[in-house]
Amino acid sequence: MQPSHPLDLIKHTLASGLPSLSVEQRQAEARLLGESVFKLPYSALLSKPADFFATERFQSAWANLHSLLEDRINNRVPLQYLLGEAWFLGRPFSVSPAVLIPRPETELLVEKGLELIKSSTETAMNTPFRWADVGTGSGCIAISLALALQEQYPNLPFQGVATDNSANALAVASSNAEKFNLTTEAIHFALADVLEPVSSDEKSPQSLDLIISNPPYISPALAITLSAEVLHHEPASALFAENEGFEVVERLIEQAVVALNPDGFLLMEVGSGMAKTVAGWKLTQSNFAVLSVWSDYSGHERFLTLQRKKKV
Ligand SMILES: C[S@@+](CC[C@H](N)C(=O)[O-])C[C@H]1O[C@@H](n2cnc3c(N)ncnc32)[C@H](O)[C@@H]1O
Repeated sequence: MQPSHPLDLIKHTLASGLPSLSVEQRQAEARLLGESVFKLPYSALLSKPADFFATERFQSAWANLHSLLEDRINNRVPLQYLLGEAWFLGRPFSVSPAVLIPRPETELLVEKGLELIKSSTETAMNTPFRWADVGTGSGCIAISLALALQEQYPNLPFQGVATDNSANALAVASSNAEKFNLTTEAIHFALADVLEPVSSDEKSPQSLDLIISNPPYISPALAITLSAEVLHHEPASALFAENEGFEVVERLIEQAVVALNPDGFLLMEVGSGMAKTVAGWKLTQSNFAVLSVWSDYSGHERFLTLQRKKKV
């Protein structure tokens, strides 16, 4: 019998086991699995004939590949958890089932944060500039922001705090920060409920210049609409919030009023159809100027830029 080429085997196995994957998704997963298991770049995988992989050298790689494919297909484990890695803004973040897999649209939140900081540096900027990422998960937002700030403003002092109410998520985030050589001065990781204790720190009330957050916002009633990969493998506390998905968002806004400096910014990602609702709340209207409600790559309005009013 002809030996199989690993890329063909992966594509065929995924096509029959997960027919809902598009051709592009199948190709992407085959590429990532192949590279990871055979420890070869894609170009090398493509150029080698099937015989090359039939040697003794790859025996354990094949066993690993079969077991990963079984987990992917039978248990619907997301590929990123199988590989322990997800890419965000051009960097490989370590991920485990303790954290949400970073999504591409969340990159827009970091880009918007950097735009706001750029406009602050062009006017008057508080130094040190203090920012917080609420619900940090893998740390993808906080770490990307801190690294971009270090690169773009090497002479300006920034202080970041990244909160989560999951100690396991914070452990992943801290190890990612270490992986990217960030010190605890650049980002302090804090176990906290939303922004507590940051917002109740009497010594530094209203001291943050920017709060950025991708909080949990899915209504538990929508659980049946989620894929098995998301519903059965990503942490429920990262996905769901009571009060039709608004519970954490509402507390975030309440706490941001106390924690932000006058003129400070609150940048948030929410679910489809939620951004306009949040923008119209009395709580939002009386404390913030709604600078913009903006859309994700699919045109869904999912992001808010709020600026705290001077007098609240
Ligand atoms: C949607 S995930 C976002 C993770 C990461 N920031 C990202 O964008 O990929 C929400 C995160 O908020 C955390 N979280 C949920 N409720 C929280 C709360 N009350 N206080 C702090 N963090 C919370 C979850 O543990 C999870 O890590």
